[in-house]
Amino acid sequence: MPLPATETVECDILIIGGGMSGCGAAFEAKYWSRDLKVVLVEKAVIERSGATGEGLSAINCYMGQRYGWNTPEDFVHYVVNDMMGLAREDLVYDVGRHVDSSVHLLEEWGLPVWKKDNGEYERIGRWQIPIHGESIKPITAEPARQALGQENIYERVNITHLLTDADDVGRIAGAIGFAVRENKFYVFKAKAVLITCGGAANVFRPRSVNEGLGRTWYSVFATGAAYGLMIPIGTEMTQMEHRFVPTRFKDGYGPVGMWFQYFHARVTNSLGEDYTVTRDDELRKYEPYGSAIPTPTPLRNHQMFLDIKAGLGPMYMRTDEAMQKLAQGDPAKMDQVRDEAWEDFLDMTIAQALTWASQNIMPEDTPSEVVLAEPYIMGSHSGEAGAWVSGPEDLSPTEYFWGYNKMTTIQGLFAAGDGVGAAPHKFSSGSFTEGRLAAKAAVNYVLDHPQASGVSDAQVRNLQEAIWAPLATFDRHKGASSSEEVNPNFVNPKQALVRLQKIMDEYAGGTSTWYTTNGPTLERGIALIEMLREDLKHLAARNRHELLRCWEVVHRTWVGEAHMRHLLHRKETRWPGYYYRSDYPDLDDANWRVFVNSKYDAASDSWDIFTKPYIQVVK
Ligand code: FAD
Ligand code: ADX
Repeated sequence: MPLPATETVECDILIIGGGMSGCGAAFEAKYWSRDLKVVLVEKAVIERSGATGEGLSAINCYMGQRYGWNTPEDFVHYVVNDMMGLAREDLVYDVGRHVDSSVHLLEEWGLPVWKKDNGEYERIGRWQIPIHGESIKPITAEPARQALGQENIYERVNITHLLTDADDVGRIAGAIGFAVRENKFYVFKAKAVLITCGGAANVFRPRSVNEGLGRTWYSVFATGAAYGLMIPIGTEMTQMEHRFVPTRFKDGYGPVGMWFQYFHARVTNSLGEDYTVTRDDELRKYEPYGSAIPTPTPLRNHQMFLDIKAGLGPMYMRTDEAMQKLAQGDPAKMDQVRDEAWEDFLDMTIAQALTWASQNIMPEDTPSEVVLAEPYIMGSHSGEAGAWVSGPEDLSPTEYFWGYNKMTTIQGLFAAGDGVGAAPHKFSSGSFTEGRLAAKAAVNYVLDHPQASGVSDAQVRNLQEAIWAPLATFDRHKGASSSEEVNPNFVNPKQALVRLQKIMDEYAGGTSTWYTTNGPTLERGIALIEMLREDLKHLAARNRHELLRCWEVVHRTWVGEAHMRHLLHRKETRWPGYYYRSDYPDLDDANWRVFVNSKYDAASDSWDIFTKPYIQVVK
């Protein structure tokens, strides 16, 4: 099959992904670099792409420094406790000290923030403020589009691989991908590249299978590209064993934060018990983190998990109890509370509102089931997987600093949002902020390194053949059986995806194994995923849509493999409620309060897994 035409784009800075951090990066890069050419490439369309594409109901990272609510130091203490002792304090502080001004900028651009009568922002919890957030993404995208100019934004182009310098694999040179709506390759040559492609959903088998397939909590755009692009070129990764297991409304995946913190709802089991009360003693096993306020997210999960495992479900979010308490018998007040309850989901997770409607649930009368969902690998929410990046020069100890803020261990390759590891709880606002910070540093890098990297034509040609191979494979073998989907010569992307999800679910501690694994199980899972990686060479695509799905599953498989290798390395159970190592069931601060890092070496097809110290930066 002939390869399609190639468009080559030369630029100074390439931003891959136009989500929250990508839009922040685009806006900021142009502010500091009026003469540099900054290009953004996105696999969808930036007004509705990414994890905020379906809207949000809150800004979950806001210090409120102008009201005296919190300081960046408070934020660091909160985040480190929520991660059970492990986060990069320099990176977390950097987001905390800049995030408020980013939120004010979003408001200036048109984001409606809920206000009290005195004009102050309303609050949900200590760090969260409510918004009418259905349109947060177009509001964020418009200034990014204006800053770069339409001619510098390439949409519906899926990036599959990063390009490294022809003479130095430790230096970035650009990226390659294909257009999803026309037969065309794109080669982007750049001096600096920013990875802002979001996190990874659908690596684990989701609870929604068959009739519900495709419904997950985290974004459908989050296909693991940030990690799947960086790992193969040898970028050092950190905390890839970490995952986020969200407590969510059953089947619709509605988030719970607003319900716990704003409506003050409880979750009760079938005996009417509240696990935060009955399981309080369990927290003492995990000191000093068990006594932190709020209880760290994994430990809250762990308490609920013990109830579920003991057969005490269903677990119900007592929306009825909470709403009636807030309304206190006043019909007008109940109207307002009801509006707020529905808006929470209509702003952010419409599927949950549909679930309520289809199950005749009136939240003021009927409690709703909640469950622990499947694991997600991500770096911006309550998960901390991602690249090991340099911190800011004024804060970071030498172990955490190598020249440019948010630069990975590959020269000129930067990351932000879900792509950065060990810096969680950024959410939408913090990811946007981190994108801005990374872009500013990338501008500095390009000004200091004005010479272009060299791109090898042979490298590009080999990659193009690999990228197009699934279409050629289908073309070569179609007709070998009476079904296009069953063929001894190839695997289609959906088959590959369910195979990956089965491995992850059964060997890496997914829902069907009660989030539990051990060394021998992981070793077996790694052997199986290595075979899957080999078989991905036989992927087949009937059209460009399936070609996109093929490369998404390749990226997800890198994520799954890294996750298992890191899980195997960390010999403790640091985050009960996220996962359990049955062979190392305890938290071991003395030996394992360290980051687990890794580097893949393509030449030898091997992984180096090692640890890096946790250093307290903020007293
Ligand atoms: P994203 O914003 O996801 O952006 C990634 C971008 O990269 C996407 O546009 C994607 O299409 C693109 N991309 C991916 N792969 C490729 C590729 N190969 N080539 C080109 N482009 C690619 N945060 C809050 O603050 N408050 C909330 O209330 C809140 N609720 C949430 C509710 C839900 C249901 C979800 C899913 C998320 C929620 N979040 C919330 C979290 C917030 O949305 C994320 O933390 C944030 O969007 C992460 O930013 P990011 O830039 O890393 O990734
Ligand atoms: S969302 O991003 O999809 O909306 P979620 O609703 O779980 O996620 O969380 C929103 C925010 O509330 C996050 O900052 C989360 O850490 C926080 N949160 C959720 N539940 C609780 C709780 N019980 N106590 C304290 N904070 C919580």
